[in-house]
Amino acid sequence: MQAAAAIALGRLGDPSAAEALLAIAHPPTGTFKPQPDASEGPHAVPHAALVVPHLAIQALTKIGHHEASLKALTGPHRSAALWALQYAHDSEAIESLIAHLSEETDSVRRLEILALLARLYHREAPYDGSWWWGTRPDTRGPYYKLAKWEKSGAIHEALLAAMATGDQTTKQALIFWNERLRLNIDALKAPETERAEATEGEPKVHLTKIANKPGEVGKTSIEDVMLALDTLKGDPKRGEALFVQQGCLACHTTSSDQPLKGPYMGQVGAILSPEQIAESILKPNASISQGFATVQIDPVEGASLVGFVTAETADAIELRDIGGQVHKVKANQVKARQELEMSMMPAGLANALSLQDFASLIAYLAGLKKG
Ligand code: HEC
Repeated sequence: MQAAAAIALGRLGDPSAAEALLAIAHPPTGTFKPQPDASEGPHAVPHAALVVPHLAIQALTKIGHHEASLKALTGPHRSAALWALQYAHDSEAIESLIAHLSEETDSVRRLEILALLARLYHREAPYDGSWWWGTRPDTRGPYYKLAKWEKSGAIHEALLAAMATGDQTTKQALIFWNERLRLNIDALKAPETERAEATEGEPKVHLTKIANKPGEVGKTSIEDVMLALDTLKGDPKRGEALFVQQGCLACHTTSSDQPLKGPYMGQVGAILSPEQIAESILKPNASISQGFATVQIDPVEGASLVGFVTAETADAIELRDIGGQVHKVKANQVKARQELEMSMMPAGLANALSLQDFASLIAYLAGLKKG
């Protein structure tokens, strides 16, 4: 009944329902235990106690709840209000929150409001069709593509003021949120020494040499390789070693804390079937993963670059070429840019392998599911 009522109230859109919705929107605490051996992570486990509060929050965001939620910050439904206000990208709501912060003296409650403001610093960028999501599951949240909005400046100021006057806990929390929520505010950064240069010391690989080596896979038709895969049982441990040996690591990472290169392989087994994985290696041009189209950039000066885009800001494009080398081009140095109908992944990297080894490589990749 509560679930149905929450949905209906959201659809009716009358803000006077906000208080009643806040009363049933308390996030449940301590009721949820993800199974320790759950292979798909906590989101795959049903959490019934969260359903009604979640629906209530969704209804609140539809009916215009800011006034009621701000008022509820000082009442018994504070936790529900804090949750609902996470979606309050609204100028007046932000001003009220900043005013509320200056009146709040309790340090824990101040931290809660600061966390809320930090989260509201960005919003989701509107999707305009000019970019696409990559194959790497991006679980960082709370937004996929960060965009500043009208009130980012005011929130920025409030966070800096808290950094200047706050106690040690507040400072540490602000540094943590700056990192966790990707605020990228310089004054909230952890001291330099803690951040290591991620790409240093990468081994050099000679991909053309690997691809030109003759071997069983290279001499067998793709159809026959696929048939052989049905009967051969691969050894994932051996496959892991081959992944390094055949140069795959130059463009693919398997752990989410490594910097992103080509498509992320840490969950490829959950996204592609073993046959699709095999096909991606044998015929890279057959289907090209989202977000990894090959791009040719002609700079104002110097030779053209061909690669896939690994990072792009308003000022610069970062491109990884076929050798795994990274090039950075300033946006104002780009004379022309076009997408090519070919994969950046070299064909033939598995040619030198025996069918047995190829089966092991596939078995290893097919087993990468957790990220
Ligand atoms: C020079 C860089 C490079 C190297 C080396 C490389 N790949 Fe790739 N790989 C890519 C790019 C770029 C894509 C995405 C374009 C595409 O789908 O063809 C890709 C796609 C894939 C895909 C499909 C992923 C998806 O989500 O669709 C698989 C599987 C894969 N590579 C496995 C391998 C294996 C195994 C090796 C080692 C034998 C390897 N790759 C070596 C660049 C590389």
